[in-house]
Amino acid sequence: MYSGFARFYDVLQGGTPEPFAAWIERRAAELGREVESILELGCGTGAVLDLLPAAWAKVGIDVSPDMLEIARIKGVDADLIEADIRDIALDRRFDVVACVYDTVNHVPVSDWPRVFAVASGHLETDGMFLFDMNTLGRLRGGAGRSETTVAGGSTVTISISDERDDRYDWHVRIEGDHDPIDETIAEYGASLTDVRRMLTEAGFTRVEVSGGRDRPVDDEAPRLFFACRR
Ligand SMILES: C[S@@+](CC[C@H](N)C(=O)[O-])C[C@H]1O[C@@H](n2cnc3c(N)ncnc32)[C@H](O)[C@@H]1O
Repeated sequence: MYSGFARFYDVLQGGTPEPFAAWIERRAAELGREVESILELGCGTGAVLDLLPAAWAKVGIDVSPDMLEIARIKGVDADLIEADIRDIALDRRFDVVACVYDTVNHVPVSDWPRVFAVASGHLETDGMFLFDMNTLGRLRGGAGRSETTVAGGSTVTISISDERDDRYDWHVRIEGDHDPIDETIAEYGASLTDVRRMLTEAGFTRVEVSGGRDRPVDDEAPRLFFACRR
């Protein structure tokens, strides 16, 4: 997962990190004090971390060495740690813990409580956990679809298949002047009701959910954004 695909990632996602970084900065301002630190769960190539204020101390966790390698080559100013976001236990706490661009969907839903516990356990008392997810509606609606784009001189085709039990496999094929690269990335969907319950069980008592501008807050919104505090 995210190995050969890693060097095409930033080109393919062009323009996406900016709104995520802006959202994180806007919500973090609600802490009402100076923000000093952020932990990003599933930081990938560090595209979002790179856009956040230089004054913030940044730590990024990712399971893909290839994605982290790109972040290092770009010189992203953050401590980058190769680890699974379900298991980490760093000996420090952060003002903000973020897990963006449907990273949580990459983890089987039965393990989301572990991710939420990791987030909660790494937050300062008044800290904020920010994450987004692809909804069940979007994942179900995308199944069977295929899309081709040109990125960095290569052709990238992504086809989504329904693997049952709300698992959707994104089959990525990259062709160009190199051997074809084939990767499968699984995404898992959960209902808003189930996610709210898991967050409550993880100790988050104040959870604000948004569907994005003028979008409904339900399982049919394409993406839901969560701002959670304990
Ligand atoms: C869609 S990318 C998002 C990357 C980054 N947050 C961004 O906005 O550009 C998802 C990332 O999550 C990472 N990931 C998926 N499952 C993970 C896990 N269990 N532990 C750590 N990282 C994981 C992948 O390697 C990938 O880099």
